[in-house]
Amino acid sequence: MPYIPFNRPRIAGKEFDYIRQAIENMHISGDGLFTKKSHVLFEGLLGVPKALLTTSCTDALEMAALLLDIKPGDEVIIPSFTFVSTVNAFVLFGARPVFIDIRPDTLNLDENLLESLITPSTKAIVPVHYAGVGCEMDAISEIAASHGIAVVEDNAHGLLGKYKGKYLGTFGCLATQSFHETKNFTCGEGGALLINDTEYIERAEIIREKGTNRSRFFRGQVDKYTWVDVGSSYLPSDILAAFLYAQLEVRDEIQAKRKRMWKYYYEHLQGWARDHGVRLPVVPPHCEHPYHMFYILLPTLKQRQAMIEYLEKHAINSVFHYLPLHLSEMGRRFGGTEGDCPLTEHVSDRLLRLPFHNCLSENDLEYIVEKICNFVGG
Ligand SMILES: Cc1ncc(COP(=O)(O)O)c(C=O)c1O
Repeated sequence: MPYIPFNRPRIAGKEFDYIRQAIENMHISGDGLFTKKSHVLFEGLLGVPKALLTTSCTDALEMAALLLDIKPGDEVIIPSFTFVSTVNAFVLFGARPVFIDIRPDTLNLDENLLESLITPSTKAIVPVHYAGVGCEMDAISEIAASHGIAVVEDNAHGLLGKYKGKYLGTFGCLATQSFHETKNFTCGEGGALLINDTEYIERAEIIREKGTNRSRFFRGQVDKYTWVDVGSSYLPSDILAAFLYAQLEVRDEIQAKRKRMWKYYYEHLQGWARDHGVRLPVVPPHCEHPYHMFYILLPTLKQRQAMIEYLEKHAINSVFHYLPLHLSEMGRRFGGTEGDCPLTEHVSDRLLRLPFHNCLSENDLEYIVEKICNFVGG
C-alpha cells in the first residue's frame, strides 16, 4: 500500500487555465480579476457585506486586531485549544491573551465560562469553530453585546458550515478564513477577512493596502492615493486568487466528496469506537459542518501515541492537534499553568486526526478503517 499522507492538495478544476488567464491579463499583483471574482462570490454566497482576500488567515486575524485598535493592556478571550495564529495576531499588538477552556462535546470554547473571564479590559472574544462545527454563537453574541465587546470569529476550518441555518463567519463583526493547503479549498497559502460590521470596511481596505487609500483611488473616489493610516501588505497575488477561484467554483463537488469520506469514517468506526472507549466527533443537531477534518479521541495519551506509531508502520500518516497554548513557552510567559484549562489539556493528549483530503480514495479509506479496527495496543 503506498503511503497515505495526512494531507495532499488536489487540482480540482480550472486552476491552470485561470493562472494562465491571470498572467495573460498582465495583472498578477493583488486585486486583479480573480481576487474580485472571489470577493463577489463570498459576498453573494455568504451574504456578508464585504469579503477581502488576504495572504493567510493569520494576516486576516492581524487585520482584525488592527481594526479593533488592539493596544497594550487590552485583553482578548481566546480558546487555549487553537492554532497559535489566533492568539499571536492579538499579542503582536500588545494584547494579553485570556485563555478559555473548551466544551467536552464540540471542543469549542465553553460559553458558560465567558462571564467569569470578562474584565473592563476585555476588548474581544475570538471563538474558533473547531473542525467547522459552530460555537454557541447565540450565547456568545449575547454576552459580548451586553458588555460591548467585539466578536471575531476564527473560521479557518468552517467555511460553508452553519449554526442554526446561518453561515459561520457571519456572526462576529469580523471573521477570518484560511485557504492554507490543509483546508477544503486552497491556494497554498491564503485567507480572507469577512466584514459584517460595515463601519470597518473602509479602514480594512486601507490597512490591507499598506495604510494607503489606494482602493478609493481605483474606484475614482479620490484623485490620488496616499498614506492615510497604519497598515501592511495583506493582499495576495492574483495568481493565488486564480487558483483559489478555480477551487471555489467546484465547491459542491469538493464538499460532496468530503461528506462521503467523513460519513465513511464515522459509520465504519462507530462500533469499534464504542467497544474501545474512543470518542468520535460530535455535531449538535443545530450545526451543519463543512466536513473539514475527521478526528478520534482515544482514551489515553499512551494509546494515542501508540496509534500514531502503529498507523505510521502501516504507511498511514495521522497527526495530533493543538498543544494547549496556555502551556506553551509563550503561554507560560502570560502566566499559563497546568490545570488552567483542564479539558483542553485532556483533549490535546488524546486527539488524533486521520488523513482527510480531496485525494483520498475509497481504497485508502477502507484500508485506514481496517487498520484502525485491528489496533490492539497502547
Ligand atoms: C483555527 C486556526 N486559525 C488560524 C489558522 C492559520 O491559518 P493560516 O495558515 O491561513 O494563516 C489555522 C491554521 O490552520 C487554524 O487552524
